[in-house]
Amino acid sequence: MIVAEDMLAAAICSTLAGIVVIAVAYDNEARDLQGALRRVRSLNDELHTKLGHDTVRQIIEALDEPLLVIERDLTVHRVNEKARTLLGGVFEGEALPMFLRQPGAVEAIRSVVESGRPTEREVQFLTPVEAHYILGARPLEGEDGLILVWMRDITKARLTDRMRVDFIANVSHELRTPLATLIGFIETLQGPAAKDEAARTRFLKIMSDEASRMARLIDDLLSLSRIEMDKHVRPSTPLDVRPLLSQMGQSYAVRLEADNRFINLRIPESLPRVIADRDQVLQVLHNLISNAIKYGRSGTGITLEAAIQPGTFPSDPVHVRISVTDEGEGITPENLPRLTERFYRVDSARSRKMGGTGLGLAIVKHIVERHRGELTIESRLGVGTTVAFTLPVLPAEDNAISA
Ligand SMILES: Nc1ncnc2c1ncn2[C@@H]1O[C@H](COP(=O)(O)OP(=O)(O)O)[C@@H](O)[C@H]1O
Ligand SMILES: [Mg+2]
Repeated sequence: MIVAEDMLAAAICSTLAGIVVIAVAYDNEARDLQGALRRVRSLNDELHTKLGHDTVRQIIEALDEPLLVIERDLTVHRVNEKARTLLGGVFEGEALPMFLRQPGAVEAIRSVVESGRPTEREVQFLTPVEAHYILGARPLEGEDGLILVWMRDITKARLTDRMRVDFIANVSHELRTPLATLIGFIETLQGPAAKDEAARTRFLKIMSDEASRMARLIDDLLSLSRIEMDKHVRPSTPLDVRPLLSQMGQSYAVRLEADNRFINLRIPESLPRVIADRDQVLQVLHNLISNAIKYGRSGTGITLEAAIQPGTFPSDPVHVRISVTDEGEGITPENLPRLTERFYRVDSARSRKMGGTGLGLAIVKHIVERHRGELTIESRLGVGTTVAFTLPVLPAEDNAISA
């Protein structure tokens, strides 16, 4: 059996050889067909050595996408590293169906063996992580029985599609619930409760709450899309976070007092300025503190802290780390990674009752990413939660600190 690299080399040679044959046919000085063929053959040999086994192997390995050459009986003839990883360690000489178990994939290749016609099919991998590929197969020309199989990763496109669909479904659902409540109460007020003064007052209060919730949801959606729109434009203005944090602390202190709660401010005497968008930092702080209030316990404190965070290496940028800590019931580890997804809530009913939109942390995540900062959420059940984010220090002030 001719090996795959020979075939690729041969394919390139035969194209070049074709050109040579035409050129030679018009060559008056070389009317001798035998001579022409000899020249073609030597060119062929020359190319063969130029594009030897090792070169072709390297080309196949260098490809960023999984590629295999297989035989008629579906034995693997050649496989590159990408394909080997994707298919869980398949090597030359092994039977492909043992490794390629995705529905429809092997059938697609079999159909190429039988019909000799190229085909493409979408295949889905569920482990170790969900992945989607277009699998293509075609007979290798001039090589009886060898089939070229390649895969194109389309995971990103598929997940984006799904996210878009989910997002629209979520938004509709979130808006429909308060809207249904509003419609229900309007009907009640028009009919059975038309003359009931006490019911009217009570219902109007609920209606006003629901309408505010819809307004908040729309506000959050709009700010999310605005943030996403300029996510690639880094903020460039210097910001002194010290006064911002103490103002924030003071304004919340008044609100918390009513609930027998308090806010601890732990802000160092001096902090370097950071590069940040003031309004967006305020929005982050507001979202985090209101979560700490909503999911914290009555009678407990909330700590708002700021500190300098040096980089791992001296050349790394210095950051200011700002954190909000509550003494609430905490979040289970399985929920932690999903909190920044849009509309993800540990307890939806509770979040809604508290007036939450489920978008607060998604907004926080996008703002922090735009600032090239880092967001971390740490929590212990029954103890509390710390949400922290970092903001890069203004480069000139960077030196002042490390000095
Ligand atoms: N400090 C916290 N303590 C406990 N759970 C929290 C805390 N912050 C956020 N969560 C959980 O994360 C979810 C998402 O938060 P968020 O995006 O702000 O939406 P919302 O507060 O509107 O529900 C909340 O519903 C809640 O379950
Ligand atoms: Mg929130």
